[in-house]
Amino acid sequence: MAQAISLNVNGKPASVHADDPDMPLLYALRNDLGLHGPRFGCGLGQCGACTVHVDGRAVRSCVLPLSALSAEQRIVTLEGLGSGGRLHPVQQAFIDEQAVQCGYCINGMIMKAAAFLATNRQPNEADIKEALANNLCRCGTHARIVRAVKRAAGAT
Ligand code: FES
Ligand code: FES
Repeated sequence: MAQAISLNVNGKPASVHADDPDMPLLYALRNDLGLHGPRFGCGLGQCGACTVHVDGRAVRSCVLPLSALSAEQRIVTLEGLGSGGRLHPVQQAFIDEQAVQCGYCINGMIMKAAAFLATNRQPNEADIKEALANNLCRCGTHARIVRAVKRAAGAT
């Protein structure tokens, strides 16, 4: 029987129903809450497309079971990253640098970069590359992605 699970998503309480409490957070976000920023890529924790923030840390929601979360933990998706009606500086920088081709990886790149810049406001290029090394982009937009993160670092 489906159980109701309470979460906090993008600053608001949310309730999802799951037959299995170990269902990945990604499924609840996309299918129950209609939040399609996080993408289903590999489903194995390897590509980063599904990245969200939990209490400010970038995590891979395809391998994070609902049972590991509490209603007190703050989950933020791409939809909730900006504030006050404005895009987050990383989102704006990706637009300004045209750092998107197919876009499939971009949720993960932005969410990972935003969490990274919150801990390192003046990264050099090597720092940025290292931070994003495990986020896969099949289109090869890496150079523009790195430029966007550098641009955002100047604005955060
Ligand atoms: S879909 Fe989660 S890491 Fe690939
Ligand atoms: S822009 Fe297509 S996978 Fe990165």
